[in-house]
Amino acid sequence: MSQTNPMPIICDCDPGHDDAISLILACSRPELNILAVTTSAGNQTPDKTLNNALRILTLLGRTDLDVAGGTLKPLARDLIIADNVHGESGIDGPTLPKATFSAVSLSAIELIAQKVRQSPQPVILNPTGPLTNIALFLTCYPELHNNVDSIVLMGGAASAGNWTAAAEFNIFVDPEAADIVFKSGIPIVMCGLDVTHQAYILESDIQRIRSISNPVSNCVADLLDFFAQYHKDPKWELKGAPLHDPCTIAWLLQPDLFRTLDCWVGIETKGELTQGMTVVDRYHLSGNPTNAKVLLDVDREGFVELLIGSLERYS
Ligand code: RIB
Ligand code: CA
Repeated sequence: MSQTNPMPIICDCDPGHDDAISLILACSRPELNILAVTTSAGNQTPDKTLNNALRILTLLGRTDLDVAGGTLKPLARDLIIADNVHGESGIDGPTLPKATFSAVSLSAIELIAQKVRQSPQPVILNPTGPLTNIALFLTCYPELHNNVDSIVLMGGAASAGNWTAAAEFNIFVDPEAADIVFKSGIPIVMCGLDVTHQAYILESDIQRIRSISNPVSNCVADLLDFFAQYHKDPKWELKGAPLHDPCTIAWLLQPDLFRTLDCWVGIETKGELTQGMTVVDRYHLSGNPTNAKVLLDVDREGFVELLIGSLERYS
């Protein structure tokens, strides 16, 4: 990866506070060539996550990007949303501009297919919400798998879940989609809660972000102020807001910030108590072939410096 040969990437997101910050981080970096942004239903309803993506990209001045909305619900289940975490709009907190551009007339999977088909280099798929769009793309366009470099996703956990005791939200919303993705044979980088709960933002970090004083950093500070509220509950044992989705971009930009483990990961789709669980075979007991690089630890300070340095680029 370099600035002269940026990595082609498609961001599939459900903004969502941390999705928004992940998009902001990605858009600030010349090492990445964002081919498209697609949206999934998860943190909020599909209409709201699409509008939120358009509003964030309007703030960034990136109305040049192609954006498409995804499916209305998971593959085989009713949609659940996380409005208790992200609020009525899905990105409550900051005052954002109305979108000044519209989504393209393609569906998310049609736009992903178009961009993957056209790319001279294999494309990184970067889902940070439920995996419905990615699973449908992989199912409908098997002939394009060979031009997908990897799937760098936020989801799952080797340890406890955050939506049920066993499952992380993105996977729990659509376990069937996650099962398709993890069985696809395409290399996966899994940024699960094990690492994202270490990538927390302290109040002092938010103050540093606010002191940058450009419209984007001010928006991020407002996003974090709101997002931090839900995570102040002592049950989470967190010192600040965990920046889940931006860990995927930080991995692409500075993989040395992370400790990883290559192993087999399976998705529980039937368990009475464990639906949506990512079964991370960290001791290689299943005999199944490795299908994922699981991020386990992060240099938190380095992660924060990467975020702050990137936000300063919007000044
Ligand atoms: O469990 C955290 C994940 O669910 C993050 O991607 C957050 O944005 C929500 O989608
Ligand atoms: Ca998300």
